[in-house]
Order: sequence, then C-alpha cells, then structure tokens
Amino acid sequence: MVEDITALETTALGSLTAAEHRSDRQALEQWRLTYLGSQGQIRQLMRCIGQLPLEERRTFGSAVQSLAQRLEVAYKASEQRVSDRLLNRELEAERIDVTLPGRPHAQGLIHPLRQTLSDVVRAFANLGFQAVEGPEVEWDTYNFELLNIPANHPARDMWDTLWITDRMLLRTHTSPMQVRTMRMASATARRQGNEPPALRIVVPGRTYRYEQVDATHESQFMQLEGLLVDHQSSFSDLKGVLTDVARQLFGQARKTRFRCDYFPFVEPGAELAMDCFACEGRDPHCRVCHGSGWIEILGCGMVHPKVLENGGYDPQRYRGFAFGLGIERITMLRHGIDDIRLFYLNDVQLWRQVRYAPGAPRSWNREVPE
Ligand code: DAH
Repeated sequence: MVEDITALETTALGSLTAAEHRSDRQALEQWRLTYLGSQGQIRQLMRCIGQLPLEERRTFGSAVQSLAQRLEVAYKASEQRVSDRLLNRELEAERIDVTLPGRPHAQGLIHPLRQTLSDVVRAFANLGFQAVEGPEVEWDTYNFELLNIPANHPARDMWDTLWITDRMLLRTHTSPMQVRTMRMASATARRQGNEPPALRIVVPGRTYRYEQVDATHESQFMQLEGLLVDHQSSFSDLKGVLTDVARQLFGQARKTRFRCDYFPFVEPGAELAMDCFACEGRDPHCRVCHGSGWIEILGCGMVHPKVLENGGYDPQRYRGFAFGLGIERITMLRHGIDDIRLFYLNDVQLWRQVRYAPGAPRSWNREVPE
C-alpha cells in the first residue's frame, strides 16, 4: 500500500509539472479534481482505510494525510506560478510605449491687429498713458460738435459717416473720448472742490466709416486716440512722446518728421512721418515707403482751446496735445501687408504665413506658433 502512495505521488507531481510548464490553467484544474477533488484519488485512498487491518490503519492513514498535504502545497505553488506568468504575459502584451512622441495640438495665435494694439498701448503705458475705452455708438455732439466741427462745417467732409438716427452715429474716430474724459474728470474735480486733474490717456477701439471698401479702406477699422492735458505741455513734449513711441515700435534708429496738417480739434495740427525702417531711404522701389523714404503714421496737434473749454478745462490755464493713429495701417507696415481686407478674412492659415516685414527690428521677430 505504501508503495502505491509513493507511485501515486510520483505520477501526480509529474503531471502537475507538465501542466505548469504548459501554463495550462484548465489542465491544472483537471489535475486538482483528479487528485484532490471529492471524487479524487486521495479520497479514494481514504475510503480504503476502513477496510484495512486495524494495525495498518494508523500508518496508512497518516501517509495518505501527509501525501494530501504535499500535493495541496505543490498544487498551490504551481497554480501561483502559472497565474504570475500569465499576468506578466498580459502586462507585457498591453505595455504602453511612453517613448512615442506626442501628437502636437493645433495652437491658435493672436491676431496681428490685437498684437499691434497691445504693443502700441504698452508703448504709451511706458510713458504713463492709461488706456480707456468709449462707446462705439456715439452722439453727433461728441463725435463732431464738441471737437470743433459744427454741423454743416466743411470739415465734416473729412469723415464719411454712418448714421443711426439724425443725432446718433457709429463713431468715425476715437477722438470723442477726448471730450468725454475731460468732462468726466473736470466735473468730478469740481464736485469735490478741486481743480481739473492732468490727464494722460490712450483710447483704443473700433471706428466706422461709410466707405467704398478697397485695399486701403474698410468701413470698420481700429484707431488709437491719445490725449495729454496739463498746465505746461508744449509742442516739443508732443514731439518727444511720439518720437519715443515710434522708436519703441519701429526701432531705436527711427527719425521722425512733423509737417503741418489740419484737424479741426487741434491748433496747430501736424502729420507725423518716420523714416522708412525697411530701406532707410535707400531703395527707390521700396514696397514699404514706395521710394519716398518716409512713412506717414499719424495725425496730431495741440488741443484746440475750444475743445479744452468743451471738456471743462480753462484754456488760459491748461494746455494739451492729442494724436490719433490707425491700428490697421501700423500693422500693415509692420508685416508688409498690402490689403486691409485680409485682416477680416478670419483665415488662420493666412496668419501662419505672416512674418514681419523685411528690415523690421529684431525685437518684432517673436516666434509665431505653428
Ligand atoms: N481723429 C482723426 C481721424 O480720424 C485722427 C486724429 C488727428 C486724431 C489728429 C487726433 C489728432 O487726436 O490730434 O482722422
């Protein structure tokens, strides 16, 4: 009988090892049922115990018992190894390769007009100008009248106007904010028993005109107005401020030129031009300055006494200067864009191709995200 036990153990362990080698779960389960199951070989041996002579029962019984334990231990160990191996195989198969390069996300970019606007606002902020905004639907009074452009005055021909009612319009320039700001500041000061404060503002915003749209005219565009008022500002301050800003925007080497011009709300009025940043006057076929060597960039002047008065500032005691520039125009210059209509096409591909114009200062050449 004891020999039977040894033989059984040898066969059992042999087939267990074989099933383990094959990593065969089903074979393992089959093995368990064959040897350790309720109908299995061990049970059968146990059932025989009762038929043995009394003196043999004890030894045989404990031999079967310990065989059962050894088989149980061997089975558990095999089962564990097979499970581990199968799990590892699975993990191996499902492994994520973290070394693969990621797929780039499409990235938007700031519209060139926004970029210019914020660069211009920052250039003036460096000189203490605060940015304020005003309404795009404006009263005739602020857009024209208080700026010294009375009804039926021929100067109105300088602005082609989109009327909303007979007294209201889409503002044709950002200049109305000159009077609005002065009025607000002087009224507040007066209420508090103070004299009107000095002002330094820029007014970025949309403006509208009844225009025939072409390469250089849109019916909607952006301007930046500027106003400085205090007790002693002079035309040389105006020149200093605007030259400094031209250099911040177009490079420190810029030269500026002021020539007389007429705007009803300033006296004297001027047009500011700077030397061409692309060819510096050397290329008669230059695409930026068209060979003239100069680029006109804005209108400016000393605030007209009537406008100061309309704003609640005593022209005997206060002086100021004002200026207005077109954001589209500055952007076209910076990028060498020759058609204003491109700005409103909303074509991202187009802006991906935009680079700064030849000869542009290094500081402009920011990375354009692809
Ligand atoms: N408002 C003028 C325009 O739209 C631009 C301008 C010229 C503004 C001279 C000013 C200035 O403040 O002083 O054509």
